[in-house]
Amino acid sequence: MNICCIGAGYVGGPTMAMIAKQCPDINVTVVDINEQRILAWQTNELPIYEPGLLEVVQESLGRNLFFSCDIDKAIYNADIIFVSVNTPTKTFGEGAGRASDLQYWELCARRIKKVSESDKIIVEKSTLPVRTAEAMERVLHSEDNKVHFEVLSNPEFLAEGTAVADLNNPDRVLIGGHETPSGKKALELLIQIYARWIPRDKILTSNVWSSELSKLTANAFLAQRVSSINSISALCEATGADVAEVSHAIGTDSRIGSKFLQASVGFGGSCFKKDILNLVYLCETYGLKEVAEYWQQVVEINEYQQTRFTKNIIKSMFNTIAGKKIVILGFAFKADTGDTRESPAIRICKELHAEKADLVISDPKAILNAKDDLSELSNVIYEEDPYEAAKDADAIALLTDWSTYNNLDFQKLYEIMRKPAFIFDGRNILDHKNIFNLGFEVYSVGKGRLSHLN
Ligand code: NAD
Ligand code: UGA
Repeated sequence: MNICCIGAGYVGGPTMAMIAKQCPDINVTVVDINEQRILAWQTNELPIYEPGLLEVVQESLGRNLFFSCDIDKAIYNADIIFVSVNTPTKTFGEGAGRASDLQYWELCARRIKKVSESDKIIVEKSTLPVRTAEAMERVLHSEDNKVHFEVLSNPEFLAEGTAVADLNNPDRVLIGGHETPSGKKALELLIQIYARWIPRDKILTSNVWSSELSKLTANAFLAQRVSSINSISALCEATGADVAEVSHAIGTDSRIGSKFLQASVGFGGSCFKKDILNLVYLCETYGLKEVAEYWQQVVEINEYQQTRFTKNIIKSMFNTIAGKKIVILGFAFKADTGDTRESPAIRICKELHAEKADLVISDPKAILNAKDDLSELSNVIYEEDPYEAAKDADAIALLTDWSTYNNLDFQKLYEIMRKPAFIFDGRNILDHKNIFNLGFEVYSVGKGRLSHLN
């Protein structure tokens, strides 16, 4: 069997590497228009940073896992084609700023149709609006096409930083297919592939539209939990409650559960915001104004939380940060990734820079992306070493939950910083009492401040 995957990004690369590892008898070819990416997948410097991924890729590379720019050849030879291209928020025309930009998906569909001479199963791996499969089927079967394409929806639920573990041992795999004989046959074939390493009871099936909508809904629910606890963090700061204690207290209720209740500077990542906006747009399209407004609030609270953090910094530092050196510890949108797409750090840095702060950006994996994201800002310094970055700094703003930040020598940091030395913990991961006792002014999210200044 030959599998082709169009799109060698954060999803296409890892998911196909896992299929190739688990199914040595299946040839998997990942293709992309981005030649650099395709080359990088075949080196020791993969195009994305993901713990454990290099080993998984190298196990199958050249055996039954191939990366190529010859898209047409891979499509032609494939029995199954996964499409895992990007589906960013549209920036133009109808639905700009909210709807998904489906041009990459449609280009793929047209290419598949043009090149194919045998029946194929097309798998939607990208996150797409409900009923996209219907539009794809129309494109694929337009004109007098003798080839039959069976479209399945198989959304991906991996999270960055834990992609390998998520793919190896997922909570579930979801496959949506049509209730027709060819739909059922295609569904069964895909089930057989996943069943090589995933217990059968974790492979869920549904109709195509439910599968497409489940992906958007899962991300909306996850993001909603973060916004919910972040909204409560603001109330904690106003009242003297401690958001970590509140999270723990409510999380022990088995109906609520303890995950995704960590207050923060807000959620980032390429998908939460884009997928919720897409959901909002869909609801509006179907005339469901109240439902659209409900989900829109999840995004609004997230932006409020980021700006609230900046305002807190300014207010704490005597209402002016002009000319003050602020070190940003962590620029990635979460730990264990170099990805900075929609990272809260982007907005916070821009806001601090607008107040004329002197920014030094530090991150173990995301400096290159940070340079790109902040290219329009002048006088920003990038320094991977936190101690170099903190020399003569007035404040540290911790924006990514890298575990290494817990092991920093805060005594040393305190000594090399200007006084009063401020720490703003946007992830609540530090030992606040301990660093306060070293002399720091300590601010965190939803926990009140620890200050030596009356
Ligand atoms: P990405 O931008 O990292 O990768 C997409 C790749 O597709 C790019 O390398 C791009 O060059 C390529 N591409 C675009 N058009 C193409 C074409 N016509 N032919 C060949 N290649 C083309 O995106 P990603 O993060 O992998 O996300 C892909 C999809 O998966 C999105 O819909 C996203 O919402 C979804 N998703 C992402 C994650 C994640 O953690 N990043 C998780 C689950 C689902
Ligand atoms: C998320 C989902 O978890 C995946 O299931 C999904 O496949 C993926 O989006 C996608 O569709 O792209 P990801 O964005 O990689 O994965 O990372 P998450 O672990 O979900 O974190 C998202 C953001 O929320 C991060 O900025 C993280 O720091 C933040 N977060 C998460 C919090 O602020 N608090 C929490 O308690 C949890």
